[in-house]
Amino acid sequence: MKRMIVAPSMLSADFANLGKDIDLVNQNGDIFHLDIMDGVFVPNISYGTPVIKAITARATIPVEAHLMIVEPQKFLKDYKEMGIGSISVHYEACTHLDRVVNQIKELGMKAGVAINPHTSVNLLEDIVKVSDYILVMSVNPGFGGQKFIPYTTQKIRDLKKIIQDNNPKCLIEVDGGVGLNNIEELARTGADVVVAGNAVFSSKNPAETIKKLQGLL
Ligand code: DX5
Ligand code: ZN
Repeated sequence: MKRMIVAPSMLSADFANLGKDIDLVNQNGDIFHLDIMDGVFVPNISYGTPVIKAITARATIPVEAHLMIVEPQKFLKDYKEMGIGSISVHYEACTHLDRVVNQIKELGMKAGVAINPHTSVNLLEDIVKVSDYILVMSVNPGFGGQKFIPYTTQKIRDLKKIIQDNNPKCLIEVDGGVGLNNIEELARTGADVVVAGNAVFSSKNPAETIKKLQGLL
């Protein structure tokens, strides 16, 4: 298997022992994945500024924010100031997506576009030209620990072609229900980055699970 970039989702971390889980990700992961939910775009609320700041202050590897919120453009500068290096905003939450992507880049962060499972990758032909990564949701966003939706595998294949034709540098990140059972298939179909919450933090040996997902074990 090729070397996968693994972004553990802190949504599944132990918040009573957050320092311990941050150190685990610092030592074994590639990127911190922070899920920001507003209870409007998704039917759940996650965590806010104090937790984000606690993570960025202790992180020694890059931190990305996955904004599952409406009007994400209002908060981009705040996230930059909190130490976030990459932001993904949802296609479904942005009327002026090109503007938001450019705002993220102008602030000096990497810009990603996230799509819900039902959103066709064919809609991304233009925005991939200016995006650093596309985050394909393989569950309906809002909760950790859900089951991978099988039809999203074909979306990754189709997106790979669109990216090769329009901006080969753009990465594909897959988020939701990723684990040791499907990582090899995801690597084959074209995923570059995988988010893993439950698979990492509910496993007996999270460090080993991250290494296996990376393809190092
Ligand atoms: C879901 C989030 C995911 C989630 C992944 O809305 O975007 O990042 O935390 O969790 P698992 O890996 O448990 O499906
Ligand atoms: Zn996420």
